[in-house]
Amino acid sequence: MSSDRPSQRLELSVGDITTERVDAIVNAANETLLGGGGVDGAIHRAAGPELLAHCRTLGGCPTGQAKVTPGFRLAASWVIHTVGPIWHGGDQAEPELLASCYRQSLALADEVGARSVAFPAISTGVYGYPMAPATQIAIETVRSTPTAVELVRFVCFNDEAMSAYQRALGEG
Ligand code: AR6
Repeated sequence: MSSDRPSQRLELSVGDITTERVDAIVNAANETLLGGGGVDGAIHRAAGPELLAHCRTLGGCPTGQAKVTPGFRLAASWVIHTVGPIWHGGDQAEPELLASCYRQSLALADEVGARSVAFPAISTGVYGYPMAPATQIAIETVRSTPTAVELVRFVCFNDEAMSAYQRALGEG
């Protein structure tokens, strides 16, 4: 655990983001917002078909942006769907787009009044963003973004993610 702001806690947890008991969980979605594999598939399965029905009304979401829906059958009240960049080697604005995902997600959390938010390691699965720089951007962006969110939890799906976040937090 680590934090730069007295009012904000940053935590790591291990496992499946769909079981997190926080106000909002973040989904690493694609531009259609119509579901997919990885964390997106897990969230849609756990939230139930109402989530897809709702997402169909949203008209997709550009890379680097975010949209919010209810959590339906999840413990979390909200799902913030953000679209991370596909990794093309790092010179196609991937770092800026990834940082934007974290900023826009926190802005939406503020909009709906969510005080606790859990993030997966956006873009580090199917989209191929290397884990170390992705987790660094996650931590730096959350630390430097003004927000009323009090607790940010980074959910590590495997040991590689856990070590990368620990290093990015300065604990590793
Ligand atoms: N809980 C927490 N983290 C998870 C879970 C889970 N249940 N499942 C996977 N991860 P990915 P992306 C981790 O591929 O790279 C989808 O098809 C995983 O180990 O889910 O942003 C979308 O529809 C990895 O570290 O998302 C898009 O088409 C991280 O979550 C595309 O994949 C992100 O992996 C988005 O790709």
